[in-house]
Amino acid sequence: MPHEDHACCSHFPTTRLRRLRYHPAVRRLVGQTRVSPSDLVLPLFVRPGEGVRQEISSMPGHAQLSPDVMADEIRQAADLGLGGVILFGIPAEKDPLGSDGTSESGIIAQAIRAAKQAAPDLLLITDVCFCEYTDHGHCGVPGESTGRRDVDNDATLELLAKQAVVHARAGADMVAPSGMMDGMVGAIRQGLDAEGFTHVPIMSYAAKYASAFYGPFREAAECAPQFGDRSTYQMDPAAAAQQAIREVQLDLAEGADIIMVKPALPYLDIIRLLGDRFPGVPLAAYNVSGEFSMVKAAAERGWLDERRVALESLTAIQRAGAGIILTYWAKDVARWLG
Ligand code: PBG
Repeated sequence: MPHEDHACCSHFPTTRLRRLRYHPAVRRLVGQTRVSPSDLVLPLFVRPGEGVRQEISSMPGHAQLSPDVMADEIRQAADLGLGGVILFGIPAEKDPLGSDGTSESGIIAQAIRAAKQAAPDLLLITDVCFCEYTDHGHCGVPGESTGRRDVDNDATLELLAKQAVVHARAGADMVAPSGMMDGMVGAIRQGLDAEGFTHVPIMSYAAKYASAFYGPFREAAECAPQFGDRSTYQMDPAAAAQQAIREVQLDLAEGADIIMVKPALPYLDIIRLLGDRFPGVPLAAYNVSGEFSMVKAAAERGWLDERRVALESLTAIQRAGAGIILTYWAKDVARWLG
């Protein structure tokens, strides 16, 4: 039945939408979403040592790498034309303040220098957070300021700024704070600017949800929280979708250059909402470990075709509005698309 507001549209048999689908070339011609390796960012996990490649059992094909082995991966990423890589450091020693993460000789600083040497032109992004570096596994410094054992927001800000400066000094091209502390973007921007890194962009994990889809990552980064969980700082999946708008407004006001939604597939509505609401602001989405591993597991059982599901997932994320996608399939996609 024709609707009044669609009175312009003709209907069957005049209109046959299958005419747009019969010929593969027509399908390609009318297709709008093309996933390209240059829009993809590959996450890499780096740990101390030499010649180390320690497989992450919950993320087949991914491993914790020592800086020298990571350098090979980085060269491959560059050769494959990826948009960039994002580094996560896993230190030998974790402590309550995550000191390794703010040290010039820490694992992440070493890795950044090695990566820059291996492929100077590849975009090198770093995750700025504390959960990988702290013994309690939280994304900041613990405190009792709220009357409960929790992450102390304001005490964490200064350390985040310090971490970002260490990354920039070691050669990071862009920093990506993922801790969901209030004021983190502003603190990092000020810290970077004060040290002469006014040109280093901030990609903020602006709308990051407290998600069970991070499960495999916690093995990869050895960062499961040792008390409580992350729901006092990461967003509640049940919160009004518009809360994501408030997060983004604040981050932009504080100087964020790129904003991110995380996870991706269960939050396509948020990607669409933010893309529509903030046109012109580069929007990234993180296709997280759980989204990757569940497809891998099903594919291993022969229940899904990994390549097709991966490409369909990334197409959907891009179609929803994310121009940048962080994904564990980045290298595979580059190879699949030849
Ligand atoms: C926090 C961080 C996490 C991820 C990226 N940065 C974990 C968390 O918030 O618990 C998850 C990424 C993934 O699951 O792939 N530094």
